[in-house]
Amino acid sequence: MDESTKSIKNTNTDEFTPRVSLHYHEARSMRRRRLEMLRRSIIYAGIAGLVAWLLLGYFTDWTGVVARCSSSSGHRTGLWDIKCTKKCSEQFEWDDVTPTRHLIYHSCYDGLECARLDVPMDWNRTDGKGARVAIAIVKIPAKVPVTDSRYGGPVLINPGGPGGSGTYLAIRSGRDIQTVVDAAESPSQITTSSSLYYDIIGFDPRGVNLTTPHFSCFPDAFSRQVWQTQLEAEGIIGESKDLSNVLWTRAKALGEGCSRSMINGEDGNIKNFMNTSPVVRDMVEIIERHGEWRETEARHYLANSGTRLSLKDQSMASSREAILERTRWRKGEEKLLYWGFSYGTVIGATFAAMYPDLVGRVVIDGVVDTPDYYQGGWLHNLQDSDLIVDKFCEYCSKAGPDHCPFYTEGGAEGVKTRFERVLSSLKKQPIGVPANAAEGAEIVTWTDARVLIMNSLYVPYEQFPVVAQILLETEQGNGTSLARIKRSRRSPACPNTECRRAEPYSQWCMRPGENNFEVKAGILCTDGESLLDDTREDFESYLSELRRQSKWVGDIWAHIRLECVGWDPRPKWRFTGPFGGKTAHPMLVIGNTLDPVTPLRNAFNVSSRYANSVVLQQDSEGHCSLSAPSLCTAKTVRNYFQTGELPSPKTVCDVDARPLLGTGKDEWRGESKVKSWEDTVLLNTLKRLMKSVFSG
Ligand SMILES: *[C@@H]1O[C@H](CO)[C@@H](O)[C@H](O)[C@H]1NC(C)=O
Ligand SMILES: *[C@@H]1O[C@H](CO)[C@@H](O)[C@H](O)[C@H]1NC(C)=O
Ligand SMILES: *[C@@H]1O[C@H](CO)[C@@H](O)[C@H](O)[C@H]1NC(C)=O
Ligand SMILES: *[C@@H]1O[C@H](CO)[C@@H](O)[C@H](O)[C@H]1NC(C)=O
Repeated sequence: MDESTKSIKNTNTDEFTPRVSLHYHEARSMRRRRLEMLRRSIIYAGIAGLVAWLLLGYFTDWTGVVARCSSSSGHRTGLWDIKCTKKCSEQFEWDDVTPTRHLIYHSCYDGLECARLDVPMDWNRTDGKGARVAIAIVKIPAKVPVTDSRYGGPVLINPGGPGGSGTYLAIRSGRDIQTVVDAAESPSQITTSSSLYYDIIGFDPRGVNLTTPHFSCFPDAFSRQVWQTQLEAEGIIGESKDLSNVLWTRAKALGEGCSRSMINGEDGNIKNFMNTSPVVRDMVEIIERHGEWRETEARHYLANSGTRLSLKDQSMASSREAILERTRWRKGEEKLLYWGFSYGTVIGATFAAMYPDLVGRVVIDGVVDTPDYYQGGWLHNLQDSDLIVDKFCEYCSKAGPDHCPFYTEGGAEGVKTRFERVLSSLKKQPIGVPANAAEGAEIVTWTDARVLIMNSLYVPYEQFPVVAQILLETEQGNGTSLARIKRSRRSPACPNTECRRAEPYSQWCMRPGENNFEVKAGILCTDGESLLDDTREDFESYLSELRRQSKWVGDIWAHIRLECVGWDPRPKWRFTGPFGGKTAHPMLVIGNTLDPVTPLRNAFNVSSRYANSVVLQQDSEGHCSLSAPSLCTAKTVRNYFQTGELPSPKTVCDVDARPLLGTGKDEWRGESKVKSWEDTVLLNTLKRLMKSVFSG
């Protein structure tokens, strides 16, 4: 593929008018229609996709993404199956791309650009030998060429996890994220040079999805699936008696298997190199190589356009020399632009501690308490979780029977009582869902309801209506919808002949993304202290502490640490702090009033350790700011990227809608009617982001 022609195309800025689709739905519709919509949304939207997000506890690992069994063996590589919709021969394949030490981009995913950056697995190896890692990168090109004075550089993004795929985030949400950080005006409309337009770069951290080598604790997809199915049947801690012997023994066995896996990596084994510190070093490499790429691009552009510099370029006084100076690779001084969510805030805060001088603009959103994370504590997460369950009851009661199917008399307390009653009866008596022509028999359990509820706390605006409907059905002894959601998290493990013939842990046996299950543990267990010496009694008391913190999430949360009790591999290099300091430019730190897993207090705590950073509070429930649409937050983030300005301390941003107060997903009661065109575009972008970021 020819990468040299690529950025020239982007000079036609008119192609990039934001895609807007306005829905002016009737605010008043019949209750029946609402419920019908809701049912459909349960069927089609599900919540299976809440995957990549931090700290998602338990069986949210079922990705359901990659492993479609294809009946034909026609796929060239056999590594993974892409559902061909268009011309197959022209389909972008990551396998076709040779990893390079310079950034070389290839067209991919309908107007995006993809690269595989080759970096040493072990950054401490100085002999230039040893295993390599190929970082998968997806770029949403800026709306102006690098030669334009309004070109702002690349904003790196990370969706959390750990284990979340940045390439996937870029593909599904990158353009909308770009709309938030870019200047509001289309580049063709203005002549001032103060507006900035950014590339968005999503990358898969080590071990994750399309970055190679993959990491795996299982010889093949089938054995992983068998294991996961058994875990699913076991349920969360608390489904049977407290921490069953079975769960503890399973955790030990899984960890031991992971520790022994990937035996054939004499040159360096990924299991010792997927913790956050080398990932941060990889990011330095990405921005450095981007600087190099930018300079090359600019030279290329100037050589090709020669005397044909457009009128617009000239009117901006972009003389050749000015362009060359502006785009010059500043070796060792390229700055990081970044927006990280959830576990992505660990990456951001770690980068800021390790390379404070390279911080250009860094937004950390949904803040993990870094020291607690690196201790492997997971004790600073659930402080506000149960308050969001209370909010569910409050909103349901306020919304009334027309908007909340689970409504009951007696105010929020009434709803709460009914809520607890449904849960405890489900604990005593799971619901059977008989097989039909399309699907096998299923049972839905207390665990399933608990997982549903926990997931809904991440994005109440989308999921509270679903929870209300499902609780109602469950109360009536109908498990159909919940079973559907449960099924949607699974994906078939395909028979794979290449794998059977290949070496143990061969790349043939690892479809990208399928190993998410163990990658998450691979990252967080090696970031944290070793828990190998923890006894079952230690764990029991840890569990009680989490339960004390949160009645609704504690049990599920305990599984995170449980996954590490059998985990032996240690990272070769682990930055241990201090996690704070004075960055070249202060960070913007965002926290929601009530976040289920990254409470607001973390934002203040982390911010207090980085000089001049400022906390922006978004007055909403949910995980990270994108879980609720707020023009105020979006404009603050935009302004930060445009001008570097931080909001004044103690700024609180309101949101532009409340959950459940409009049931249908496209109805937003309480949204003010009159808005500028700009605001309408931005709000629609935020609504799309809320959906795309939280669903697969
Ligand atoms: C590994 O390299 C990093 C920088 O790349 C350095 O900060 C760290 O001290 C090194 N660790 C060892 C054990 O050499
Ligand atoms: C159970 O719920 C589903 C989905 O809402 C519905 O289609 C079905 O008719 C219900 N079954 C019974 C027996 O009410
Ligand atoms: C891996 O990335 C590809 C492309 O970026 C995406 O389609 C796929 O869903 C991702 N898989 C996971 C598990 O994130
Ligand atoms: C911040 O966290 C540390 C421990 O990680 C704790 O000792 C301290 O009290 C916290 N400070 C605030 C302001 O919450």
